[in-house]
Parts: sequence; structure tokens; C-alpha cells
Amino acid sequence: MKIVGKIAKRIEGKEKGYGESKYTADLYLDRMLYAGVVYSNIPHGILKSIDVSEAEKIPGIVKVATYKDVPGTNKFGVVTKDMWFLIPVGEKIRFEHDAIAVIAGESKEAVEEAVSKVKFEVEELRPVLTIEEAIKDEIKVNDENTNVAFHKKIRRGDVDKVFKEADLIIERDFKTDYQEQAYLEPQGAIADYDGEVMKIYASMQCPFYVQEDVSEILDMPFNKIDVIQMETGGGFGGKEDVPSYIASKAALLSYLTKRPVKLIYEREHDIKETSKRHPSKSHYKAAFKKDGTLIGLKSETYLDMGAYSTLSPIVMYRTLTHSAGAYKVSNVYVDVYGVYTNKVPCGAFRGFGSPQVLFAIESIMDEAAEKLGLDPYDIRLKNALDLGDETATGHKLEFSVGAKKTLEHVKNMSKYDDLKKEIEDFNKKNKFKKRGLGWSHIIYGVSLGAGGQHLDAANSEVHVFPDGTINIMFGGTEIGQGAKTAVSMIVSEVLGQKLEKIHVLQTDTFIVQDSGPTVASRTTVFSGNAAKDAAEKIKKNIIDFLCKKFDVSPDEIKIELGVYKIKDNTFTFGEIAKMCNDANVQLNESGWFKSPKLKFDMENGVGEAYVTYTYSTQLSLVEVDILTGKIDVKKMWISHDIGKAINYDGVIGQIQGGAVQGMGHAIMEEIKQKDGKIISDNFNNYIIPTIKDIPEIIPDVVEEEFPYGPFGAKGIGEPSLMSAPPSIANAVSNAIKRRIIKIPISIEDII
Ligand code: MOS
Repeated sequence: MKIVGKIAKRIEGKEKGYGESKYTADLYLDRMLYAGVVYSNIPHGILKSIDVSEAEKIPGIVKVATYKDVPGTNKFGVVTKDMWFLIPVGEKIRFEHDAIAVIAGESKEAVEEAVSKVKFEVEELRPVLTIEEAIKDEIKVNDENTNVAFHKKIRRGDVDKVFKEADLIIERDFKTDYQEQAYLEPQGAIADYDGEVMKIYASMQCPFYVQEDVSEILDMPFNKIDVIQMETGGGFGGKEDVPSYIASKAALLSYLTKRPVKLIYEREHDIKETSKRHPSKSHYKAAFKKDGTLIGLKSETYLDMGAYSTLSPIVMYRTLTHSAGAYKVSNVYVDVYGVYTNKVPCGAFRGFGSPQVLFAIESIMDEAAEKLGLDPYDIRLKNALDLGDETATGHKLEFSVGAKKTLEHVKNMSKYDDLKKEIEDFNKKNKFKKRGLGWSHIIYGVSLGAGGQHLDAANSEVHVFPDGTINIMFGGTEIGQGAKTAVSMIVSEVLGQKLEKIHVLQTDTFIVQDSGPTVASRTTVFSGNAAKDAAEKIKKNIIDFLCKKFDVSPDEIKIELGVYKIKDNTFTFGEIAKMCNDANVQLNESGWFKSPKLKFDMENGVGEAYVTYTYSTQLSLVEVDILTGKIDVKKMWISHDIGKAINYDGVIGQIQGGAVQGMGHAIMEEIKQKDGKIISDNFNNYIIPTIKDIPEIIPDVVEEEFPYGPFGAKGIGEPSLMSAPPSIANAVSNAIKRRIIKIPISIEDII
């Protein structure tokens, strides 16, 4: 191939590096107001009254809006509409950052003062702060008659029967805690209403969600709401549904004042209000034969949804389908429950409900290996999926299964057998420092899966200009992951134009059709395929024309990067474009891709859960200080089967970044709370990995092509994170000779 699979520079890299890119906070519009939010500041209670009179008197304040000012539906909810936009008097406050009022003013200072002057009375209620308390149902968080509001299950095979036939049964409880997405750029939006069209500029993973929610809040049709993606400094799931809540606040104020309104969150408010990875509690029971074959799995997982359901039921679907990990096991009995508590609503975070259970099953595999006298590598290889096998949900795999290759590659890259001896020697010589090795082998469903098929399609627009330069707009978003570069490389490959002649426009809901969210490791496949479709249509128009003009057959036209060779003539792509334009050839096309349809029984959790899967293996080497409890991750060998690397360097970057974020979850990051309030609300006390903490990473890419992917690509966004926590936890267990059953692993846990 000309460019796919090679190394390319980030197409928006220079502007980002030089600080020239425009993020939402960098945008200043004429007559723009600043906005602020009045928060409840209690985790549970009933709002008795609101008094805005003092706030309105502050000089520079233009509007103080409460629930009474909302023209449309004053509620949010992706699955159930259980979340107030602005809490009405008489209704319940359900977490510390519920919004009571929004304020617009001429300066940030005036807004800040006005926020402190809004008076409201509440009748405080005792909050529900843990999964255990929630299950007791003594206090109800929401309007349902139980806090355990959602349940999903897999019922496949006969688990009770195989438990009787097992040579070994492992039974364990596991716990995982919050993780904050910690994108560098906090959430923010600017709304600009001119009396007819509402324009919204924001930091998002899905402009279409924002369009839909603003439409409901303001009772305004979609064709009057233009949502435009700004440069976005990371999302990691945290900007999937959440930007709707921020953009709606700015939009309401702009609607009421007919002036542009800017709302940029301070880090503290961002951490306290916006979604995180769900804390979880699991009980696992797994049955094995003597040779290590996993014959049955029974598990129960509770996810702490926080105060509102938001994306939780969808997150739970992924928890469910990943509960048995990357293994062929046909007797599966899984229950996943979503539980309300009076805390921050949890939602999407890279991995989307799978890291919690992948940690559990990978710990189980290690413990089984140990008890059966097998190597943890061998037990994984024995149970790993292959072509023709069925996943734990009974999905027969017909293509693109590189699971075993990822295992073999890591074993070879790490010289595993020598490494084990080195570790043994080290541990004999060192009394207070102990090293350990830990494996993980995981699966990840690419795309929205069987439950999200109505959203699993995408549009891209490609426009070739008469000078041969190209503009693309795709329905996914660039959030820092490299989507613009990957999609441009796909278009470059098809049309033969060089990458530096291609420009990608910011996603705009007035131009591209609803393409669903930029999540689920789906953007390369969806936006990439849609752009490929558009580029192929243009290419066909060009080739048809050239064949006639030069009286040649299509195979006599040779496309290289930047030039077309026709018989003895060489034309630049620019010359070709000019020729076509002057001959009235259509050079602007729309592309579309929709996911192949899946068969899945939602009641029993059996069937084709996702269109395809990535497979990953990680081995980590850690050193634990027995006296202080400090864990030092020294090296990680990681292999991912992603179908095809479009931008090889970009993929390596994702592998490194994901592994480090996963390491943060495993051993560093901790949301601390007191009385239902988050106290680790900035990066001085919510500790994430820095460059100093990054171990040596040896990445590897396996390319088992996905027939429906652009040039065979699957995805890398999320699996890059999920292999790390179980591998690191297993390495720590291996070093200290005790099972680690919770993440993050704290120093106290080690001691
Ligand atoms: Mo992602 S966690 O699917 O936004």
C-alpha cells in the first residue's frame, strides 16, 4: 500500500504543538457572556425554595435562570429520563453537583459573586454512599422502588452440571474503584443564539447527542441547532454524554439573553460533576479441569451508577459480555446489576464497564494456574479463542482472531522463560525488594454491539477541489486520538493524493448526518469506512473520465502517491483534478457505512455481541518494596490484534498511552470522598501517572484483517488500556505471593 500501515505525521500536530489550535476556551465571540452554575453542595435532600433576588442585583449579571426558565423538557437520560437539568423546587437533589441555577454575566468575577448569592433551602436526607447500603434499599435514591434498578444476564449452557464435574473451583470476591478520565482540557461549551439558529461550539465525543439534548431542553427542532466540534483535548469516554449537560446550560442562557454564552468548567467542578469509571463489586466462581480447561463460569457484578442512570445500562451490557474474558467457555451464568447511590453519575471511560470484570477473570485464571501447577501463560493459551470457536456469549468467530498470536508474540518478545529465571534469582538475592511477572489476555468488542445497532452507522464527506487539494468532514470526532490522520490516510490511499494536501474540517451537525458517538473503538472502522466509500465514488468518477479521455482501460492507469501515470504520461493529482473539474466530473461525494447486523438474544445474553473483537496480551514486570509497599512497574510487553494498523505510529501511541492510563487505574488513581463529597478534586490530590512513572513499553501489533474494516482495521482506542490493570495486579500478586483482589492497589493493601 502507498500510505496505509506506514508512519504519518499527525495532520493537526503542528498547530497543537505550537499552541495555535482553537479549543473552546480559546474562542471569543462578540458580546459574549460568561456563565456559572449554582450547585446543590449536598448529596441528598429536597429542594424547598430558591431565591435569586440578591444574585440578580450584582452589577454585570444579565440572567439568572432556574427550572422555571426551561422552555422544553427539564430532564436528561440516555436510557431513562431520571436526571433533572435544573432541580425544581419540591424535587430531590441526588448528588453534590446537581444544578440549581445557571447564571450569565459580563465577567467571570460578576458570575462568581452571583453564584455565591443564590439562596436556596433544602431538607437534607441521609445519603446512600456505597453499593452495600444501596442494595439494602432502606433509603431510595431514585423514583424506582429499588436502588438495584437495572439487571442484565447471560444464561448459557448448564453451569450447575459442570461445577459438579470440575477438578478445581476458584471462588473470589473482587472490587474496583473509580477512575477519572483526566482529559487535559476540562469540559466546556459556547452557545450562540441569534433568535433563529442556535450554534454550539464545544469539546465533545458526540455532537449529535448534544444536538438532540439541546433540542429537548429548548424545545427547538434539530435543523435550528448547529453543533460544531472544537479542537478537543481528550475525552476517554468522559465527553460522550456529559457535554450535553454543559452545552444545555450555555444554550439555555444564550436562548434567554440572545447573546453568546461561554461556560468552561474549572477542574474542581469537572471532577465533582462529570462521569467516571464505575466502582464495582464482583463475586466470581469458575470451574476448571485438571489440564486447565475453563469449563464453567458464574459471576455476579454490581456497578455503582451514582445518582442517575445516564449511560450505565449500556455500560452494563459491555460488563456482561466481557465477564468471561477472552476465553472459549460454553457454560456461562452471569448477572450484572446497576445500583443507584447519592454520588457522581458514572458513565463511559475507555473500556466502558469491561476493565472491572477483565481484572476479575484474569485474576481467576492466574489463581487456577497456580493451583493446577500450570504456567499462567499456558492456561491462557489453552483457553484462548481461535477461528471457528465461540465466545462466552456464543458468537461463532468466522474471521480476524489473532488471540493466540498476541500470546505467542509477548512470550517471544519478553524471552519469557529466561525472564522467569532472572526474576527467581533476583528474588533470592533481595530480601526487601520482590519482583513479579503478570499476564493478562483480553478481548474487546469493537463498535456499539447488538444493543446499539440503531446508532452503528457513519457518514463522511469528501470534496476534491480543482487544484487537487481535498477537504474531508467525518461524523466521528478528533478528540486527540488521531482520527483525522487515520481517516485522511484512508482517503489518501484510495485517491492517491498526498497527505499534506488533505484538510479535515471540524465535525458539524449541519453538514454530516448523525454518525453516532466517537466511542467503542469504532471511529477508524466507521468514519474510516464512510470516508473510503466517498473516496471510492470520486475515484470511480475520475477513472471513468480518464478511461474515456485517454482511451485506456482502468488497469492502464497507475496511481502513485501524488501522481497518476497513464501510458507514458505522468500527471500530478492536481492536474488530474483540474482536468476532471473542467470536464464537469463530480468530485464531491458522500460516503456511508453501516454495521453488519448482529443476532443477539437480549433476554439470555446469547449471540453475536459485537461485529468483531480485538484481542490483546500483556506481560508486566513489577518490583515491590516490601518495607514501604511501593509498586514500581518496570516493563510492559504488549501485543494487540487490531486487524490492521492504519497509522502505525498512531497505534503505538495509543498502546503506550492506554497502558499508562491503565497503570494509573491499577496502582495510583483514587477518588477520595467524605460524606458523599469528592475531596480529590484536582491533580494535586488525584494522582495520575506523569512521564516519570512511565515504564519501558515494548509494543507489538498483530494484523488479522477484519473483512468489514477499512483495509482490515478493527480499533485500538480502548483495548490499549484494559490489558494493563489485570497484568499489573497479577504481577504484584506474583511478587508478594498473595492474591490482589482490588484495584487500585494501594500501599496499604501491600503492607
Ligand atoms: Mo468510550 S468509554 O466507548 O467513550
